[in-house]
Amino acid sequence: MKKICSLFILILLFNTTQIMAQNKAKILVLIHSDNGRTYELAKEIAKGIESENNADSYIKLVKPSQNPNLKSLPVATVDELANYDGIAFGSPVYFGNISTGMSEFLSKTVQLWTEHTLEGIPATVFMSAGSGAGKELAIQSFWNSLAVHGMILVSNGIRGTEELNKAIPQGNSVLGITTMASLKDVERPTKGERALAELQGRNFAKVSLALKDTHPKRAVSVTENHQNFNEILKQKNIVLPQVPKPAGNYQPFVRSGNLVFINQVALKDGKIFNPGKLEVEVNEQQVKDATRVTMLNVLAVLQEAVGGDLGRVKQCVQLTGIFNTKDDYAKHAELMNIASDLTAEVFGDKGKHARATFGASSIPVNSSVEIQAVFEVE
Ligand SMILES: Cc1cc2nc3c(=O)[nH]c(=O)nc-3n(C[C@H](O)[C@H](O)[C@H](O)COP(=O)(O)O)c2cc1C
Repeated sequence: MKKICSLFILILLFNTTQIMAQNKAKILVLIHSDNGRTYELAKEIAKGIESENNADSYIKLVKPSQNPNLKSLPVATVDELANYDGIAFGSPVYFGNISTGMSEFLSKTVQLWTEHTLEGIPATVFMSAGSGAGKELAIQSFWNSLAVHGMILVSNGIRGTEELNKAIPQGNSVLGITTMASLKDVERPTKGERALAELQGRNFAKVSLALKDTHPKRAVSVTENHQNFNEILKQKNIVLPQVPKPAGNYQPFVRSGNLVFINQVALKDGKIFNPGKLEVEVNEQQVKDATRVTMLNVLAVLQEAVGGDLGRVKQCVQLTGIFNTKDDYAKHAELMNIASDLTAEVFGDKGKHARATFGASSIPVNSSVEIQAVFEVE
């Protein structure tokens, strides 16, 4: 009886948690940022959103960034915009207008526009300027694009300005918060600008929650895609190594758009693991072991490329295995299966990939294997 009661309570708890998650507003904080000030405001906006208990925020970029502070942020797709209960847009001011990065992203939303997809979804805007020249024009121009989409524009009015330190220039505007990055009198965004951004986020979450589910065309839910990969790796007894340091003038990975490119050899603890040519210095089992070591290196680099969150991996696109073999060797595919199986074990369906394998008469640092990998990431 006791067991049945516990089971019942567990089911009830599970269902309640599910219902609570469904009732939460999902709010996208969509930004372009070159030097990071827009991102600083975005974090405050997100803090304000999250302070409304029933709202979750998702900060995403309109395009990949090489800025070390931004490069691990996920990149939004145009199609996912309709999945949110509200979108807070942030961009640098470019010549009294929105930035080209933001403008390029919005120019890809024509289909959403003609299909009325974003109509009725709340939007709010924040911006980072240099001196502040034309900042209100810029926010207004941002509103123009969103108004054409039929989004519900949420302004700030004079909310919170009573608390501002009026002795220094502040980026408050009635349409949305800004900061003025090139005014070096105090750290930017100022304390007051941060506070107003947080307030903007909180108010925006309230509006988004109130209008949640009033939009007929909304897709069912945002794919969060954030499985706990640390847990998955632990369960499968997979330990990722330290990211190997580059041995030449190259990067451990390069991200181009939503693709990450990685190349690794069988480096383990600073030395090549089972080095040499197959059937001369090493046997097949040793090369298979080296292949696993190499693929673990690839995964370690991938983890770094996605800012530690393997949940951001959308697909393993292609693996290429190169093996140090004699001319007449033909069983490369069997060796490479070790890498492919490991990828599928970690990522499931997202680990399924296209593949190429071939033999080489030599491989750098006498490794018995090299793996080249391409992953699609958020
Ligand atoms: C092409 C270009 C045009 C700009 N035009 C303006 C402008 O009209 N007014 C202004 O105050 N700042 C202007 N700036 C400065 C940026 O708005 C400022 O550096 C901003 O803080 C960048 O935001 P971020 O740190 O998120 O990249 C411009 C910058 C660039 C690159």
